[in-house]
Amino acid sequence: MNKKIEAIQQQLQKLRQQIEHHNYQYYVLDNPAIPDVEYDRLFRELQQIERDYPRLITSESPTQRVGAAPLNTFSQVVHEVPMLSLDNAFDEEKVASFDRRIREGLSVPVVEYAVEPKFDGLAVSLRYEQGKFKTGSTRGDGYTGEDITQNLRTIKSIPLCLSAKDVPTLLEVRGEVLMMKADFQHLNQSQRDKGEKAFANPRNAAAGSLRQLDSKVTATRHLTFFAYGIGWVEDGGIPKVKHSDIMDYLLSLHFPVAKECAVVTGSDALLAYYHDIGTKRESLPYEIDGVVYKVNALAQQEKLGYVSRAPRFALAHKFPAQEMVTKVLGIDVQVGRTGTLTPVARLEPVFVGGVTVTNATLHNIDEVQRKDVRVGDTVIVRRAGDVIPEVVSVMQTQRSAQTEPFVMPENCPVCGAKAARLSGEAAVRCTGGLFCPAQQKQAIIHFSARRAMDIDGLGDKLIEQLVDHSVVRTSADLYKLGVTALVNLERLAEKSANNLLAAIEKSKQTTLARFIYALGIRNVGETTAKALASYYGGLDRLMDADLEDLQLVPDVGPIVAQSLADFFAQPHNREVIEQLRLAGVSWEEQDGMSAIATEVTAVSGKTFVLTGTLPSMSRETAKEEIETRGGKVVGSVSKKTNYVVVGTDPGSKYDKALSLGVTILDEAGLKDLLQ
Ligand code: IVH
Repeated sequence: MNKKIEAIQQQLQKLRQQIEHHNYQYYVLDNPAIPDVEYDRLFRELQQIERDYPRLITSESPTQRVGAAPLNTFSQVVHEVPMLSLDNAFDEEKVASFDRRIREGLSVPVVEYAVEPKFDGLAVSLRYEQGKFKTGSTRGDGYTGEDITQNLRTIKSIPLCLSAKDVPTLLEVRGEVLMMKADFQHLNQSQRDKGEKAFANPRNAAAGSLRQLDSKVTATRHLTFFAYGIGWVEDGGIPKVKHSDIMDYLLSLHFPVAKECAVVTGSDALLAYYHDIGTKRESLPYEIDGVVYKVNALAQQEKLGYVSRAPRFALAHKFPAQEMVTKVLGIDVQVGRTGTLTPVARLEPVFVGGVTVTNATLHNIDEVQRKDVRVGDTVIVRRAGDVIPEVVSVMQTQRSAQTEPFVMPENCPVCGAKAARLSGEAAVRCTGGLFCPAQQKQAIIHFSARRAMDIDGLGDKLIEQLVDHSVVRTSADLYKLGVTALVNLERLAEKSANNLLAAIEKSKQTTLARFIYALGIRNVGETTAKALASYYGGLDRLMDADLEDLQLVPDVGPIVAQSLADFFAQPHNREVIEQLRLAGVSWEEQDGMSAIATEVTAVSGKTFVLTGTLPSMSRETAKEEIETRGGKVVGSVSKKTNYVVVGTDPGSKYDKALSLGVTILDEAGLKDLLQ
């Protein structure tokens, strides 16, 4: 080999190692060591050299993960050792008897177990020959699977090449391919954006992505892999004593191993692990459907052996299913605080996610139509953690001929006012506003909540009664309540009535932020309410602000500004506010930032667009400087823009500013203005 080629080979090897190292940092350790642009630069450099010297491309090069020609069909692969299944346990009794059988079988008083999450994905086997990834396959029938090598190569957390002193000549790594919850959400969003079918859950999405004949599609799907054991090994420095040592060894070969894997002793510890992982389940970035217990000592595993197609030394302890099949008995429409009409499926009771579920949200009319949920349908219902149960999909094959598509009512089912859908919104809303009892109830529930006016003892049931008996219609009516009106209600003793009145009295002294939040204005949550309070300092200044002015408040964009303007434009809302003030609801008023901002006349109230690189200021600093003086920085140039600040290499915004005749500033001009 000539010297030049040798040098290029060396450079290629260095680049490939660097890139795989950064893949490992990013995809396995979740700890990127370099910025994306630097990674891209290394990748492009490697691509360029490989383009110049195609003879030097090897199949282990990171550039070769994607790009294989689409297949016509998957070929079959015989597993070196069968891929077995696990015995399942759904209750603690079965776990205790598993441990008892093992202790008896081994004649030992106590057993050490390796404990792991049970990944809810697809089992795969990865075959490495001389440390190089050769074949990857699905489980299939356990003996023969499908060759999905091309697809598995696109998963960046799967090493293409193993680097260790004593690499086995043959190694079959077993594990699970998953789609992370976040990647699943992104994928479904983009499927919907493209008008394509969304996947029911991450497992289905992972399965659909792995079964692609064109690996370029798989590459776009962001799959992940976790190793949980080995199938077969020849030679090399593989540990021979404990399963947990094998997992550490796989980790040292850069295979992803779940952080949640542990070693525990005795059956109580198994259950403690089950409960611990159960509480973490929702916050894990991937889906699991239980935990797996494995006798840790390999000699003990061998002694226990196998029964039919499952090892005697391992057990899967499953969580209650998060998805179950049931029937839709009816579809009701509920009215929320801001008048949103939400279709809700009434279900034949079903035990799912650990509780009995009788209702499931259908979100909005688009969702009902997309899933085509009908009364009488057999559906899959999902309840995960504290998330409200939802209908995932309809089992179309079970549908009877008599079903009818769901139609949203034209009128509010509570007050009868017209229901309307604003353009660009998914929700259909009742136009009855605060005259609608359903909205009255929700508005008062929100008003009295702990983070709003904090009226202790005013529960949802009591509010329902108060509204149903027309004792209270608006939040201001709460301050007119007397003992007699309260004790006339069901289940309210005089003492509780007096306590409640004291709590209502106490709530009068509040803060402006709490009061704004308590008004229940659409799109105005606690954070926005705080920002508005500190910006305006007083309620009248907020109520009189126009759309442009509102958008000067940090984090207030056009949508929130419009909601605020709409709310304060309603005479009814102004009247309720007036009554609340007359009843004695008060807070300390301040000057607020708006008062300070108006002193700086040159920048306050002005809209800026930044384009190109400024000589000495970063874009962030320029934005901050403008905003602290009451100006606003927006992304695009329009007739309303006051100034476009231009640096070197400006974008099309500069041309637009010229064509619209907007004042153009350089950095010096901006600095003058800021001073
Ligand atoms: S060990 C001899 N460990 O569960 C059996 N399996 O019913 C070897 N699974 O499809 C399996 N997480 O893919 C093992 N931590 C884990 C697992 C796990 C998920 C899957 C496996 C298989 C099924 C077994």
